[in-house]
Amino acid sequence: MQSFSLQTEADTLALGARLAPILAAGDVIALTGGLGAGKTSLARGLIQSVLGPCEVPSPTYTLVQCYDLPGYELWHCDMYRLKQPEDGYELGFIDAFEEAVCLIEWPDKLGDLMPADALSIHIDFEGDGRIARLSGFGDRLG
Ligand SMILES: Nc1ncnc2c1ncn2[C@@H]1O[C@H](COP(=O)(O)OP(=O)(O)OP(=O)(O)O)[C@@H](O)[C@H]1O
Ligand SMILES: [Mg+2]
Repeated sequence: MQSFSLQTEADTLALGARLAPILAAGDVIALTGGLGAGKTSLARGLIQSVLGPCEVPSPTYTLVQCYDLPGYELWHCDMYRLKQPEDGYELGFIDAFEEAVCLIEWPDKLGDLMPADALSIHIDFEGDGRIARLSGFGDRLG
C-alpha cells in the first residue's frame, strides 16, 4: 500500500494526473471514501491531465461518463444511485472491465460484480485535507 498526503484539491488533481500514464485497458479501480472525500476530483485530475481543461461532471445521475483517452477508453462511474448490482450488466460493465479502464466511485453498490482483483484507491479526510491510500498498483507508481 502507498499513501499520499493531499493537502489541497490541487494535490488530489495531481495524483489523478500521475495515474493517467500508468493505467492500461483492463484495469478496474475501486475509488472509495466518504461523501465529498475527493473521488470525483481525482478522476477529474486524471482526465484533464490528458484532455486539457474539459468539463468532467460527476456521474452521479448519468452513472457512467466515458472518455476516449489515447491508449484506452476511460469509464468514470458513480454507483451511488445504482439500485441493485444486477443493473450493472445493463450498463455494460462486463465488457468494460475487460476493454476499458474503469474508475468506480461507490463500487460496493456493484456487489459481486466488482472484479476481485480490482485496484483500490481509498481517500480519507485528514485535517483540512485528505489522505489517499493506493493498493494493488505494485511498483507502477515508482
Ligand atoms: N485534498 C483535498 N483537500 C481539500 N479539499 C479537497 C481535496 N480534494 C478535493 N477536495 C474538495 O472536496 C470537495 C468534494 O470533492 P468531490 O466532489 O471530488 O468528492 P467525491 O468524493 O466525489 O464526493 P461524492 O461522494 O459526493 O461523489 C470538492 O469541493 C473538492 O474541491
Ligand atoms: Mg463523486
